[in-house]
Amino acid sequence: MKSLEVGLGARAYPIHIGERVLPRAAELIGARAHDRYVVVTNAIVASHCLAALRGALRDAGAKVDVVLLPDGEAHKNQRTLDDLLTRMVEVRAERSTTLVALGGGVIGDIAGFAAAIYQRGIPFVQVPTTLLAQVDSSVGGKTGINHPLGKNMIGAFWQPRAVLIDTSVLRTLPERELRAGLAEVIKYGAIRDAEFLAWLEANVRALLAKDADALSHAVLRSCEIKAGIVAADERETGERALLNFGHTFAHAIETAQGYGAWLHGEAVAAGMVCAARLSQRVCGLGDDEAQRLAKLIAAAELPTAPPAIAADRWLALMERDKKVQSGVLRFVLLERLGHAILRDDVAKAEVANALETLSREAR
Ligand SMILES: NC(=O)c1ccc[n+]([C@@H]2O[C@H](COP(=O)([O-])OP(=O)(O)OC[C@H]3O[C@@H](n4cnc5c(N)ncnc54)[C@H](O)[C@@H]3O)[C@@H](O)[C@H]2O)c1
Ligand SMILES: [Zn+2]
Repeated sequence: MKSLEVGLGARAYPIHIGERVLPRAAELIGARAHDRYVVVTNAIVASHCLAALRGALRDAGAKVDVVLLPDGEAHKNQRTLDDLLTRMVEVRAERSTTLVALGGGVIGDIAGFAAAIYQRGIPFVQVPTTLLAQVDSSVGGKTGINHPLGKNMIGAFWQPRAVLIDTSVLRTLPERELRAGLAEVIKYGAIRDAEFLAWLEANVRALLAKDADALSHAVLRSCEIKAGIVAADERETGERALLNFGHTFAHAIETAQGYGAWLHGEAVAAGMVCAARLSQRVCGLGDDEAQRLAKLIAAAELPTAPPAIAADRWLALMERDKKVQSGVLRFVLLERLGHAILRDDVAKAEVANALETLSREAR
């Protein structure tokens, strides 16, 4: 097992990563007799992972209640949040009760938000079980739910007390979900670490085959990069925005296709190819470098081209993005592989041109 810290001063917390972390949960979060936990999960995840976690906490003498939520992004809403809060009141969760989010990003986001607002905030622990949640959503304290008028519109920053990552739970994860998580892993290499990107090129087959050592390394390095960026800019006033590489395009793709048609990671994959193409035009990313990124994305069996969307629709969709500030489109671009920058001065014509070239190539 490896451990690292998210350095947020008084709110700093550890991330523990390894093959058999769940059975050690009690020790790792310091659970003692009579401590109370509410584990929030869904039926699928519970069938694979609940016994180990609950057993560990109960062996330490802690009292554990379990709340099952319906599965899927469609349920990441006020109704589910309300049901969860009701269950917490019913089981008499207290200020000192720790909420444990056991699941993918959907569970983590809802449970984290419930922890942020229940009795004005209670402790919570993230136990992510998808690759995306292990490398991205469980670290950094963004929590929330969707509103009918916009994704992740309602939420709070609420940091967990600890993140427990058991990479062995990925064995049961559907392949498509694994690949979607790989898109975010590739993103970390692209924005911060050319060496990691080269490692990914050499190990992408092993990752797709769920090789335990390869997955552990990919999760660890991704968490290190995300933890470093979050520690430097918790509230996304600057550097944290680099984590949105590919995401302005991805959000447009997700909205255009209707949520659920493309997994988020698939849209991010195509979005990164779009952003790399724009980077070639406006900040000097080499053709060979853009090619290399696209090749890695293809090797991860992820889409390398966006769906057909008309140019004016692209721009309209991107302008609606939550990340737009004062109407200015901001892009995360690559000066070179491993080095991202933030640009808010890219002419719309450049964006349209880059997208036009891509769609011509895809035809
Ligand atoms: N808070 C953040 O910083 C942040 C960052 C990125 C994404 N997100 C959010 O994360 C969500 C997406 O998360 P996700 O991709 O994990 O999707 P998800 O939570 O819907 O999980 C995907 C599917 O895998 C199943 N599953 C989970 N673990 C499993 C396992 N070990 N074995 C078998 N099946 C398993 C789930 O039940 C679900 O059906 C989105 O709502 C997104 O907005 C949040
Ligand atoms: Zn993402």
